[in-house]
Amino acid sequence: MARLTLEEKAALCSGISNWETTPIKRLGIPAVMMTDGPHGLRKEVESAAVTNVFKDSVPATCFPPAVTLASSWDTDLLREVGNAIGAECLDQGVSTLLGPGINIKRSPLCGRNFEYFSEDPFLTGELAAAYIQGVQENGIGTSLKHYAVNSQEYRRLTISAEIDERALREIYLKAFEIAVKKSQPYTIMCSYNLINGVHASDNRKLLGDILRKEWEFEGIVVSDWGAVNDRVKGIVAGLDLEMPSSNGILDREIIQAVRSGRLDVKDLDETVKRILQFVFRCAATREKTAAYKADYEKNHLLARKAAASGAVLLKNEDGILPLPDGADLAVIGQLARKPRYQGSGSSRISPRRLVSFCDHMDAINARFSYAPGYTLQGDGYDKKYIDDAVALAGNKEYVLVFVGLTDEYESEGFDRTHLEMPRGHDELVRKLCEVSDRVVVVSNCGSPVLMPWLDEVGAVLNLYLGGEAGGEAAHDLLFGMINPSGKLAETFPLRLEDGLSSRYFGMGPRRIEYRESIFVGYRDYDTGKKGVLFPFGYGLSYTDFSYADLELSAAKINENETLTVTFELKNTGNHDGAEVAQIYIRDIDSTVFKADKELKGFQKIFLKKGETRTVTVDLNRDAFAFYNTKNSGWCVESGDFEILVGSSSRDIRLQATVRIDAAEKEIPDLRNIAPFYYDFQGADEVPLKQFEALIGRNMPPDILVKKGGIDFNSTIGDLGVTTFGKIFKWAVHRFSTIVLPRDAEEFEKIMVREGAMSLPLRSIFAMTDGAITYDATLGLLMAFNGRTCRGLYRFVKAMLARKPTGKTEIYGK
Ligand code: BGC
Repeated sequence: MARLTLEEKAALCSGISNWETTPIKRLGIPAVMMTDGPHGLRKEVESAAVTNVFKDSVPATCFPPAVTLASSWDTDLLREVGNAIGAECLDQGVSTLLGPGINIKRSPLCGRNFEYFSEDPFLTGELAAAYIQGVQENGIGTSLKHYAVNSQEYRRLTISAEIDERALREIYLKAFEIAVKKSQPYTIMCSYNLINGVHASDNRKLLGDILRKEWEFEGIVVSDWGAVNDRVKGIVAGLDLEMPSSNGILDREIIQAVRSGRLDVKDLDETVKRILQFVFRCAATREKTAAYKADYEKNHLLARKAAASGAVLLKNEDGILPLPDGADLAVIGQLARKPRYQGSGSSRISPRRLVSFCDHMDAINARFSYAPGYTLQGDGYDKKYIDDAVALAGNKEYVLVFVGLTDEYESEGFDRTHLEMPRGHDELVRKLCEVSDRVVVVSNCGSPVLMPWLDEVGAVLNLYLGGEAGGEAAHDLLFGMINPSGKLAETFPLRLEDGLSSRYFGMGPRRIEYRESIFVGYRDYDTGKKGVLFPFGYGLSYTDFSYADLELSAAKINENETLTVTFELKNTGNHDGAEVAQIYIRDIDSTVFKADKELKGFQKIFLKKGETRTVTVDLNRDAFAFYNTKNSGWCVESGDFEILVGSSSRDIRLQATVRIDAAEKEIPDLRNIAPFYYDFQGADEVPLKQFEALIGRNMPPDILVKKGGIDFNSTIGDLGVTTFGKIFKWAVHRFSTIVLPRDAEEFEKIMVREGAMSLPLRSIFAMTDGAITYDATLGLLMAFNGRTCRGLYRFVKAMLARKPTGKTEIYGK
């Protein structure tokens, strides 16, 4: 530290490239590499084309994405997958993997839900912790992201999530808290958005007070790519590393701030110390493992096992599945040949060996007839394809139809607007049901969909997105080599409007109100007593399980004692198989508003047919606590709590009551000012006044930017307030897709266009690696606010004055 100059310290605070930290060669400080994942490795090929998201990457094992892994509810599996990905990082010289993503699925509409685990924070946190431990056992870092409250894609770079303290703590931060405390990720990635008006990247409360002080996080905080708002405030708040490189533009702000006294050098030193610890920790692993070779064959088998574990059997009427060997089979739907096996965006892996269902059937010489059924473009509807499929299906004993969402329907960068599958897929299933009563649907979706044909089909196997071996896993499950054991980690609603959050999803331009507070997912559906298509925690098996003999270690405990819950689980069916037993807690009489039930424990248990096992789950104070806004801490309210043990959130098999004695007396009672939250059955709107009472402030009108009001946080999409802005906006929209290859698909174009429109002006210098300088951006800002000539003059002058030497030239490769 003593030998570093101020310039070098500042240089260490940002990357040198898209993926590497800055080396200081004269002192032997190396650069270390971080790359995307999280369900595999996306290490870009250096020579590949310009864009960030779509560059070719080095082939790696493509495991199923988070949505599928989560439905396994299997922490051992998550650890194993994490471990295998960590091993591939060693092989490819990557020091830190940019994942897992653990934002809460507030609404099924979030375009990036496939990359997140669940609507429940406890399940999310436990799974993420296991995954992180698995990766980090290799000496490879992880980046837990996106911290925090980043549950939508719409205007994700600039929107402010307005949220009450309980929802923040109990739902949106809880998973981070569990994962940080249990697994200490090397890094945490802060999100782009603002939380209650403060950017995540300079949010002292989130980064300093909660993450570092309360949770004792020891690693570094990395900005999401281009998320830095105020670099100096960020250092003080606890943001360590700016990524990617803005070619030193923001490093210079740090230097100036130290020189002018705005930033205490001690704060900078703390940041630099943490960055150095991170860099040397990663470098030590590289040194030890330079010649490491990963076992990709083994990892492919693990990907197959993971895909099978995460698939959820949603319907199986009259035991139509598993299919008999040699079944007379029609396989319909292009997704059987060209599976959708992962989501799109920064997490897209180049799989080493992609095996579709049809590939696998061919490889094992299984007989089947195939028809494409739909196209993979737009709504997929093609009458001729449907007619051909129907003609084929009519002659076969079983019809296996693969349907799902294509990338145009869900992706990073934009949200969904409805829950329907492409029309051509729905139509196809309906028509097939007219000619066959043995239709088995296999779905490939990254998030919940509606199933208007559900009553007419025999079975539905929800594969979600199966990763590179999803086709083999589908075969294993459909033919009964493996017994399905996945359970939904999210609710499938009957209608989009049923979710309280659906009315307040997206919003904008500047603000999004989390009006439903803690009532997310099943906490909303169960408390509001709403019907659902499939409940949280639901999933069928080829066998049956019985639950019996629930015992609590005591009928009455003190809040600091642990309650041990035991029960007998028996496999009463005819197949070996695994069950996910779930433990929920219901607070019977509470002064604060509470959800009908909350998941507080789960275990996945494999039982041979006829086998019985005693299951034991410990519940400690955390399981009964809520976040008390009166004294800013977690507390328990004395009273009776029901312990519910079941096979899903709506299939509770056993229950018992425990009395808890707790010290806390100061409990907020909002029954008079916000009664909605105590009883919202039948309601579909959250009164604004009551939300304001809950959050403790009024929501000013949310208006679009006006002429003169364009600032660094205005987006390109906001620029239409002056003529020059309009032209600029039009040009960006029109020409943004030139960064894509000629044969780019429609979803890639949508993603790039939407991405460009939601880009704030501060990203211009950050994302162009400083090619457009800070001063030049200031010129543009003047022009966008109506001073077109002066602004453009300043822009051109600044561009001409650009220094030829940037960060790479100084600290170099
Ligand atoms: C995404 C991150 C990702 C980063 C680097 C961002 O746009 O939000 O999840 O790790 O890009 O590709």
